[in-house]
Amino acid sequence: MSNESQNNRQNDQSPDNNVGDQLIIFDTTLRDGEQSPGASMTKDEKVRIAKALEKMRVDVIEAGFPIASPGDFEAVKAVAAAVKDSTVCGLARALEKDISHAAEALKPAASSRIHTFIATSPIHMKMKLRMQPDDVLAQAVNAVKMARQFTDNVEFSPEDAGRSEIDFLCRVIETVIDAGARTINIPDTVGYNIPHQFGGLIRTLIERIPNADRAIFSVHCHNDLGLAVANSLSAVLNGARQVECTINGLGERAGNASLEEIVMAVRTRRDVFNCDTNLDTTQIVPCSKLVSGITGFPVQPNKAIVGVNAFAHESGIHQDGVLKSRETYEIMRAQDVGWSDNRMVLGKHSGRNAFKTRLKELNIDFSTEQELNEAFSRFKDLADKKHEIFDDDLRALVAETNWSIENEYLKLVSLRVCSETGETPTATMVLEVGGEEVSASASGGGPVDASFRAIESVVNSDTQLKLYSVNNITSGTDAQGEVTVRLEKAGRLVSGQGADTDIVIASVNAYINALNKLENTEVREHPQFGDV
Ligand code: KIV
Ligand code: ZN
Repeated sequence: MSNESQNNRQNDQSPDNNVGDQLIIFDTTLRDGEQSPGASMTKDEKVRIAKALEKMRVDVIEAGFPIASPGDFEAVKAVAAAVKDSTVCGLARALEKDISHAAEALKPAASSRIHTFIATSPIHMKMKLRMQPDDVLAQAVNAVKMARQFTDNVEFSPEDAGRSEIDFLCRVIETVIDAGARTINIPDTVGYNIPHQFGGLIRTLIERIPNADRAIFSVHCHNDLGLAVANSLSAVLNGARQVECTINGLGERAGNASLEEIVMAVRTRRDVFNCDTNLDTTQIVPCSKLVSGITGFPVQPNKAIVGVNAFAHESGIHQDGVLKSRETYEIMRAQDVGWSDNRMVLGKHSGRNAFKTRLKELNIDFSTEQELNEAFSRFKDLADKKHEIFDDDLRALVAETNWSIENEYLKLVSLRVCSETGETPTATMVLEVGGEEVSASASGGGPVDASFRAIESVVNSDTQLKLYSVNNITSGTDAQGEVTVRLEKAGRLVSGQGADTDIVIASVNAYINALNKLENTEVREHPQFGDV
């Protein structure tokens, strides 16, 4: 069946399925993205990212896996309540308890979807599920029927479809469509497929399954061979009209297909794809920065679309060409994906109004006046230390509000570090622990090491430092350093962030932020683990 007929037959679907030439963007940053080791997010962080995705006009936001933990349930519920313009989706194994939990968490949503899955590949059925194919089929059908009791908007995924036998896959899909699934998502769960083969799989499914015209075909590709975006685009060329993807390509192992690459490929090469998304692409870079800040996963400089070098021209020949005519070396405009020119806008003497106006121009909103006041007071502190304040400094200031979490049991009151040639560095500090001030000091290999040891002498957190990274937010020696710290405790990973012109203070704040998150977060069950 041609792409055109796959598009034309969407008309009997629920609103977000009525697509014509629209490519539905299903973002799973908050679910699969969160499955990246160390990328766990708090409820508030998830809501913040969900609001940014909504502002970008993402069609479907997969907010989490409600059965995984009470925290995940609450996070999905909070996202469902906060988001009005995108469909909010919850993941559920093909189990009654998962589906009822997902339905409950999604109750506050204006538009919701239940996404249920069960594995269909021989290796998963035999080794993981220890089930016969007929039993898998029966469980898939029951799950879809049950999900349909809660909503018309049901998505089904045959997990590891990319390694499933085609006849069985067709049988499962045909039966779940009859049972009421309106989106059929084909996951390449282990990133094994090659573009022409994966595109061929989608075409075969659409052509062979007799009731394929009653569902939207979707794809969900992992990046183990670096082919997630290529496989997804090949699927779009062969009739898929939903792509599951994540901001910055975050996700399990090597990640998922990156939203920004899919969206900009389709938009830039509309001549090839014959479809487009609804997205406001100017929100891409702010959203990428938000996700990177919250998860502590930096974006590599040469990452397509959202890397800092994505639009930078170093070679003289290229610079000369771009100055003469931008199109000589640029196929997209930086501002169309949300890059601003990082102007120096504010300084020590700028008032609250100028601060507020520039934030508005940068599309940064505060939910309360108090948040704005706090950010302005941090801006004034920064302006005392740093002559010129750039847009990226302002974004970092706002991100700081976002890093802070409720119930901080640990706070930095004051810090003094001593670093001298030939001497062992020392750190002396006052911490507030559960409301009480405690002094601490330690020496170490460097001022950061000494500071972390001083904190540990008080809290004895029993954590292991898995990552310590410092990035400059702007250029120059007075630039703010943005520090990410990742800590592990008993298999749980959390990231903390801090930013300051003094990188030792930024480091201490990041370490404290991570310790506070460890106190506040809980262990979650992995969606693809467990009994199904
Ligand atoms: O990768 C995968 O198969 C998944 C499913 C749950 C869709 O994430
Ligand atoms: Zn996945």
